[in-house]
Formats: sequence, structure tokens, C-alpha cells
Amino acid sequence: MRTKKEIEYLLKAIDAFQRRLIVLSPDYEILAANIPIDELPDMETKGNFCYQYFYDRSSPCENCAVMAVKETLSPSLCPKPGSYIIGGHMPCFYAYPIVNGDRVEAYVSMDFQLPSVGMLEEKLRHTNSLLENLLLSAVDCVIAADMKGSIFLFNASAENVFGHSKEEAKNSINVRDIYPGDGARQVMKLLRSDDFGGKGRLTTYRTNALTKSGEEIPISLNASVVYEEGKEVATVGFFHDLRDRLRIQKELEDTQVQLLQAEKMASLGKLAAGVAHQINNPLGGITLFAKLMLEEYTLEKGAEEDLHRILRDAERARNTVKELLEFTRQTRHLMQPNNINEALTRTLFLLENQTLFQNIKLQKEFQPDLPPVSSDAQQLYHLMMNIILNAAQAMDGNGILHIKTHYLEKQDRVCIVISDTGPGIPEKALPHIFEPFFTTKDEGKGTGLGLSLAYNIVESHGGRMSAKNNPEKGASFIIELPSATNSQKGDERE
Ligand SMILES: Nc1ncnc2c1ncn2[C@@H]1O[C@H](COP(=O)(O)OP(=O)(O)OP(=O)(O)O)[C@@H](O)[C@H]1O
Ligand SMILES: [Mg+2]
Repeated sequence: MRTKKEIEYLLKAIDAFQRRLIVLSPDYEILAANIPIDELPDMETKGNFCYQYFYDRSSPCENCAVMAVKETLSPSLCPKPGSYIIGGHMPCFYAYPIVNGDRVEAYVSMDFQLPSVGMLEEKLRHTNSLLENLLLSAVDCVIAADMKGSIFLFNASAENVFGHSKEEAKNSINVRDIYPGDGARQVMKLLRSDDFGGKGRLTTYRTNALTKSGEEIPISLNASVVYEEGKEVATVGFFHDLRDRLRIQKELEDTQVQLLQAEKMASLGKLAAGVAHQINNPLGGITLFAKLMLEEYTLEKGAEEDLHRILRDAERARNTVKELLEFTRQTRHLMQPNNINEALTRTLFLLENQTLFQNIKLQKEFQPDLPPVSSDAQQLYHLMMNIILNAAQAMDGNGILHIKTHYLEKQDRVCIVISDTGPGIPEKALPHIFEPFFTTKDEGKGTGLGLSLAYNIVESHGGRMSAKNNPEKGASFIIELPSATNSQKGDERE
């Protein structure tokens, strides 16, 4: 039971309520109001039914909140009869029953100002467009589709990466088309499993996507299923294009390999230089004394032949030492602007008449007006000679030798490509061919110094060299040397 004080406060609270609050009998008679009945003006002339008193009507209003409560027996909210929206607000009534046992004794009706539906719609529209803008301008590609795969959201990044316009994506392709093979099915399978970020979610999944031009691009995918009342209604995917990241990673790896290679060459070079000097002196002695013996003694034929053999082998050893010294840059070089086409022509002139080249067809594809390369002419011949000789030896004197020169404008470099139609470089040997003493030739036939020397020459000229096998037949050696103006710029920078 409420105390007198509580009842007093409740009445005061109802009276202080800013809006009108009235209690009605089941037939709409005004029983009480937060304005005392006797203070309501002219109750007698206006009649004491609410529809008479407030609306001058002879029957209850059609959309009366109390009427709705009578029908449903639960609280109801209805717009005020004849009301119109003022300042974005809609006047309406809220009504509820006062129940006594299982009988409705009376109804309470109070009026309210609710924000209008139009205003709610406007707010909703604003929030929606804000969300849509966020998705559309996201850096990652955002693609959403219904469960049949029809795309309904395709943001600007997706247009850029996939090459479809928003309209094309929505009208002419299915979300399955942006994955190669049965990639879409695989993604859906993973999305529905618990193991990749929870059911209905897939996080940082590395896969490939298909662009409009048919190119497969590596992507990282975050996707989720959108549920409504427990039912799958859509899927949304955030695609991150991995091409740039993978390219940078590859460049870093390549640079690392090149650095390692350069370091290895440098330390081997020092070692080789030391050995070369030590061998040179006894070699001088061997040659000198063998020659003396030949000149000063009358020898048996067999002994004379042996001495000639000693001299030949000593000569070969001296040549190897010379190459070793060249390899370690122990000789002085004269750097001058040289024309690569001319240097190649001179090298070929020396080689062409040798028997090894008799059955080799030479194809020259020289770009005229090549910019000069700041280089040591002697070293250039050495470099070209080694690669061309290797090609002729690989073809066993029979095949096509193709030599191409061209200017790489963007990098300001001159490029030489020397290709042959030999058996190509065995895959296993490919990573080692530039290493000193690596050879696949029979003992005594090759020192394995040719390409490492060539590599060193190219490097000391600020260039690059690589080798690859041709798709059809044979191998190609690609040499890039900075043009004279380019290396000058480099020197200035240093
Ligand atoms: N054009 C080519 N085709 C196939 N393999 C090649 C070619 N050029 C080089 N090679 C391979 O690379 C290896 C190393 O070459 P490199 O010129 O350094 O030494 P080499 O020719 O064996 O001996 P050297 O040049 O010192 O007489 C060769 O033994 C060969 O296996
Ligand atoms: Mg060689």
C-alpha cells in the first residue's frame, strides 16, 4: 500500500508532466486529467467525452490510440488525429490500459512529440551514405554480393585493381568471376568453416584474383558472411592487392643475392691475386731453365719433346695466371668513351677467321647511334671474347650466333644480348656459372675463369650481367653498361 505521502507525490508528478495526460473510461469519458477537471474550461457546453471535448466530434477519432489499446489490450502509439508535422516532429498519442483483475477499468492517454518518420528516414539516409562513402573510398577493394553472387557494392579501388567499372560489376559479372578456377567455391567453403577466423569469417587469406583482362593477381582477402535473423544474406570481401609488396620483396631478395655474389667475388679475387703472384715466379724459373736446356744441350728426341711439353704447359699456366690477375684487376685500366658496336665488330673480326667459327651463322642486330660507354677497350674485348667463345664452344662450332645491341633510354644504359642455339646452360649450373673455376668442360679444356672475369669487368664498369636459357634453344647473356654520360653522373654523385 502506498502511503499518503507517496500518493501525494505521484499526483504532483502527474500534474507536473509537461504534456496532457488524461484517464478515460472504456467509452471515452474523461475521468481525470493532469489539469483538474473543474479547471478544464466549459466542460458542460463541450460534453465530457474526449472526442467531444477536444475534437468537437460526435464519435471517437479513427486513429485513436485508446481504440488501438481496446483492440489489442496492449500499449499503443498513434498519430494525433488531424495532426501535421511541425519542425520535424510528429504529435502523437500514447495510450495504455489500467487493468483491475481481468477487467480493463480505464485507459490512460497522453500526447507526445516524436521525431517524424521523414526525419528518421533522413537520418538513416545520412548514416547510410556516410557508411557507403567509407566503403567506397576505402584503400582496399571492397566487393559485396548477395548469396547468388550478384554484386551490389564495388568500390573505386576495386574498379582500379579489377578493371571493371562499377556498373559492369553490378550488371554483367558474378562475384565468382573475380576468382580463377573454382576459387570462389573454395572461399565460400573456408568462410563456412570454423577454422579461419570463426564461422562466417575469413582473415588474411592469400589467394589469386582475376582481373577483367584475365591477369591473375595475388591478393590477401578478409571476408565475411552477412547474416539476417540467422540466414546468410550476403558476403563482403576486402581485397588487398599484393603485387607491389611482392615486387619489393623480390627486389630486396635479388639485391641481397647480388651483394652476396659481389662479396664472394671480392674475397675470392684477393685470394686469387696472392696465389697468382706466388705462381708467377716459379713459372718464370721453369720456362727459363727449360729454354736453356733446349738451347745449350744436345738432347735425345724424346727428351726434347718432353721439354717442349713442359714449355707448353708452363705457357698455359702463365695464361691462367694472367687471367687471374685480370680477374682481380691488378692491371691498370684506361677508361675512355667507347662505342659498343665498334668494340663488338673488332672482337668478331678477330674470332670470325678461327676454325671454330667456320660453320657458325652470325646475325648482327646493332642499334645505330648508340651512346658511348665509358670503358677500358682492352677489357671490353676480353668481356665480349669470353662470352662469344663460350657460345661458339657450346654450339660445338655449329649454329646461329645472334648479337643484339640497343639503348635502354629510361635507365640510360647500353644493352648487349648475345644468344646462341647451343644446348643451353644446365639448370643446376645456372646459379654457379659466374663463380671462378666453375666449368663443365673436360679437365684441361676450360679453367672456369672466363665468365667470372667477364662478371668482374661488367661490375667494375658499373653495369650488370645475367644469363638465361632461351625458351626455344640455347642460352642468352645480357649485359647492361651505363652510357658515358650516365657513369659521369654516377661519378659526380660519388
Ligand atoms: N653459351 C653457353 N651455353 C651453355 N653453357 C655455357 C655457355 N656459356 C657458359 N656456359 C657454362 O658456364 C661454364 C662457365 O663458363 P666460363 O667461361 O666461366 O668457363 P669455361 O668456358 O668452362 O672455361 P674458360 O672460359 O675459363 O676456358 C661453362 O663451363 C659452361 O658450362
Ligand atoms: Mg669460357
